[in-house]
Amino acid sequence: MTTRILTGITTSGTPHLGNYAGAIRPAIIASRQADAESFYFLADYHALIKCDDPARIQRSRLEIAATWLACGLDVSKATFYRQSDIPEIPELTWLLTCVAGKGLLNRAHAYKASVDKNLAEGEDPDAGVTMGLFSYPVLMAADILMFNAHRVPVGRDQIQHVEMARDIAQRFNHLFGAGKELFTLPEAQIEESVATLPGLDGRKMSKSYDNTIPLFGTAKQLKDAVARIVTDSRLPGEPKDPDSSNLFTLYQAFSTPAQQAEFRAELLAGLAWGEAKQRLFGLLDNELGEARERYNGLINRPDELEDILLAGAAKARKTATPFLAELRAAVGLRSFRTQVQGDAGAKKKAVKSARFVSFREEDGSFRFRLLDASGEQLLLSNCFADGKAAGQVSKRLQSGEALDLREQGEAFGLWLDAECVAQSPVYADTASRDAAMASLRDALKPQE
Ligand code: TRP
Repeated sequence: MTTRILTGITTSGTPHLGNYAGAIRPAIIASRQADAESFYFLADYHALIKCDDPARIQRSRLEIAATWLACGLDVSKATFYRQSDIPEIPELTWLLTCVAGKGLLNRAHAYKASVDKNLAEGEDPDAGVTMGLFSYPVLMAADILMFNAHRVPVGRDQIQHVEMARDIAQRFNHLFGAGKELFTLPEAQIEESVATLPGLDGRKMSKSYDNTIPLFGTAKQLKDAVARIVTDSRLPGEPKDPDSSNLFTLYQAFSTPAQQAEFRAELLAGLAWGEAKQRLFGLLDNELGEARERYNGLINRPDELEDILLAGAAKARKTATPFLAELRAAVGLRSFRTQVQGDAGAKKKAVKSARFVSFREEDGSFRFRLLDASGEQLLLSNCFADGKAAGQVSKRLQSGEALDLREQGEAFGLWLDAECVAQSPVYADTASRDAAMASLRDALKPQE
């Protein structure tokens, strides 16, 4: 089975070298794997949450699109699109908003950080907090669930959001799936091996520290940035410690082991920092030079970029449009035309729709569950040594013979031939237990 990999890039800045090594390069490599299907998109709706400068939004979308293409993303293989070109995404966001617990979203780190800051400053807890910021994880869940992604490569700060998407998906499946998994449960993927690059000052390279090296400036801009990398004050000829040098760490992220060993030896032998910077510049210019030319070409042909992204959106919508139709139907937004027929069908099914689901325990024994129409468990069977014995019991339960149900506190057991063969869940009280016993009898009632 192919794995669906999906990730979004918020379009609120200009890509720097840290983005390249940490996200862009590994994502492009992953997209070339034969058993992967990748969905990469510009999260421009998310960008609106953080940025209210239209010119900057527009510029960043263009730069990020050109960057990914210049770095070698193959759009005939990956699906590459703008979030805002997929109207199904905001529509799905609403369906998810209606099942996402407010309590869940209250716990989101980004929202909590704003509240904590407000409280520390003696402000109203929600001062300056928009509904966009609060609902950020729901929009992100829609991005992920729309395409049933299995894996979501993200930075550590985003793990919680992927987990929330899982939570919301589970809730939705439970409410509307009628036992079917409507949404795949996604998993965050953290690349442990990917370098977190140090910036000019040695702290993590990040726009918020203003210590970045631009990915696609001119060669001169690259050279100037490299010249500003902070080093210690050792003089030419004095041995340098590669392992405490962020210049060396940067070099490592773009070189072969052989190049690294050579550079290390030179530093230990007293290579001047000025020379060392020259080496790093040469390395980066070599890795990025061609891509920079492609980038400049693309930036100057925005029409072409527009076409590529619209084609990507059309490709993505081939999946999104029919899936959203299914989801709308699942929550009850259906055409009136199919109503009469649909309802009659649904009623007939409702009686029949209790389902037996058999499975194997880790120890190899066989069991089954009986689920009601909404997927709630009514019974869990004992363990049987073979599948046949389990099958015989479930067959007898459907044979129409009178059920022998026996109360056990807030639960009940089902008996066959003087033996308890299955158990109900434990209910909150005896009234719920009695209701469950009635719905079990109803579910297994012989059909006319
Ligand atoms: N929130 C992510 C970030 O800031 C970007 C993003 C938006 C995303 N939607 C997504 C990432 C869906 C993965 C999947 O990095």
